[in-house]
Amino acid sequence: MSLSSPPNSSLSGAAAIPARSIADLIQAKASGQKIVAVTCYDAAMARLMDARSVDMVLVGDSVGMVMHGDKDTLKVSIDHMVMHTSWVSRVLKGPWLVADMPFMSAHISLDETMRQGSRLMAEGGAQAVKLEGASPAVCQAIRGLTAAGIPTIGHLGYTPQSIHQFGGISGYRRRGSDPAAAAELMTQARRLADEGAVMLVLEMVPTQVAAEVTQSLAIPVIGIGAGPEVDGQILVLHDLLGMNASFQPKFVKRYAELERVITAALSEYAGEVRSGAFPHESYSYNSLV
Ligand code: KIV
Repeated sequence: MSLSSPPNSSLSGAAAIPARSIADLIQAKASGQKIVAVTCYDAAMARLMDARSVDMVLVGDSVGMVMHGDKDTLKVSIDHMVMHTSWVSRVLKGPWLVADMPFMSAHISLDETMRQGSRLMAEGGAQAVKLEGASPAVCQAIRGLTAAGIPTIGHLGYTPQSIHQFGGISGYRRRGSDPAAAAELMTQARRLADEGAVMLVLEMVPTQVAAEVTQSLAIPVIGIGAGPEVDGQILVLHDLLGMNASFQPKFVKRYAELERVITAALSEYAGEVRSGAFPHESYSYNSLV
């Protein structure tokens, strides 16, 4: 059952779905309904999403890797994030819209954090912002943004902006798997909630650790590679659609094989253009009037 559907209602027959808010997602946790979240970076994809299928859309800084062709998320700037968020917010109807604060956004000054948060909300059209980690600067950022009326989301476990602290790509693995690291993760999660975070994302964390964090917090916990015992799941849209078949971490399930579909369509198109089969008369303007 999705958040949007009362028991026994058929999704296709359901009436218009009201837009999601953080209050709905906190209520979903309280009533045990799973939250469905996905990333999105542009209007073409955002047009295909509504609250019938998706509760929350994240304009993640994974945009750097997925859309810009970067090796990591570090080159993504606040200008990129504002631009992609505004592309999504122009057409998105229904899901709650969250935007990532880019690399270093909490670590230069509180003024800089506030300016970036304000831009994502006012220019980008986000309804909340997400920050990685639980350092004193991130806690201060969460307090400041929250006091200014900007809902904030924490992100713990594997935090991609710290890739080089984790040892580069070889550090791309689960976090919190020994007892000390699990205890530290729990402490950090509680700290972020105490500072005012309204939601937490846990990335690449063992199921049991994620379950304990989820049970100990009143705010929703969304997992990516954090097992089933969290309040909801998020995946990178292009991963779940199978747009990059060579990228296959353990936690990604592909619900489509669009790389295959798109390359086959391009190859068929190319063949028809080269053979002259396209455009057939039916795709041509034959009349002079
Ligand atoms: O940037 C992103 O896509 C994210 C998700 C992996 C949670 O932060």
